[in-house]
Amino acid sequence: MIKSNSSSNIALIKYMGKTDSTLNRPTNSSLSWTIDHLKTFIEVIPTNEVKDNWAPLESEYSINLNEKSINRFLSFWCFLKDHFGIKGKYQIKSANNFPYGCGLASSASSFSALTKAAYKLSLSQGGNELSVADLAALSSQGSGSSCRSFESGWVCWQDNVIKKIDLPYKNLIHKVVVVESGEKKVSSSEAHRLVAGSSLFPGRVERAENRLIQLIQALQNENWRDAYQISWAEFWDMHALFETSKPHFGYMTHETIECLNLVREVWSINSDGPIVTMDAGPNIHFLFRPEQEEFCNKMLNKFFKNFKVL
Ligand code: PMV
Repeated sequence: MIKSNSSSNIALIKYMGKTDSTLNRPTNSSLSWTIDHLKTFIEVIPTNEVKDNWAPLESEYSINLNEKSINRFLSFWCFLKDHFGIKGKYQIKSANNFPYGCGLASSASSFSALTKAAYKLSLSQGGNELSVADLAALSSQGSGSSCRSFESGWVCWQDNVIKKIDLPYKNLIHKVVVVESGEKKVSSSEAHRLVAGSSLFPGRVERAENRLIQLIQALQNENWRDAYQISWAEFWDMHALFETSKPHFGYMTHETIECLNLVREVWSINSDGPIVTMDAGPNIHFLFRPEQEEFCNKMLNKFFKNFKVL
């Protein structure tokens, strides 16, 4: 049996829109923080069945993947088997330690974990060694965002090169306020397709690329407030694309808006606070500097105690 696991990541500059939907080539560069504590675990077990199959692995958040998601996962598994020349049939078991399909970037952790599992299996059958960057690029063909889960900390995906970048802010504390843990109605694959029809899509690449430059500069200069402002504008830009697509769709609930207003208040009272971002879902991600730990606990206790925080 082969075991693997991989972390999720949250983008501050978002990958949204594809130039090639078969290879998952993004329309713009993205930058993420790897969420070490939100993980997918995979076991690959040889089977005598005629076909590879998927089953849930026991965990707190036992995944019950729908048929479409199982097919997507297994078809990428078959692609990986072909790519590595893996022989035999297998049962893939997977689980997350967090809810899936609700904007916590579970496709990033699950597809990167699957790629790592296939690579391990290939090595055990005498396959060739690959660099982390090559593995990440391979994983991007299953789920684009998964390519940023092969390194810890800050990871940039630009011109089909995935690389870790060294920035002064390290060991950040990640928290996500789970406003809603049900499966979202519009998948991110669907979102990538629909945003191309938004009236705000022309200009999107330029806005995202400019923000990437500005954000890296702010992080390099340890200008936390600027990093917060840029990240805030960026997630609203992505959600504005959703709301101006044809047909329009959205993920924010009234609780999302209430939470966002609370963080805005925290920032205005303290002249400090967390970097805030959202994925394609209703939940709110925070990044705190390590020295903000006490402040983080106080803020979550005071304003978000009615929500599950992961
Ligand atoms: O990897 P995908 O195809 O599930 O795309 C997800 C893209 C976002 O999570 C919405 C943004 C990002 O950059 O991670």
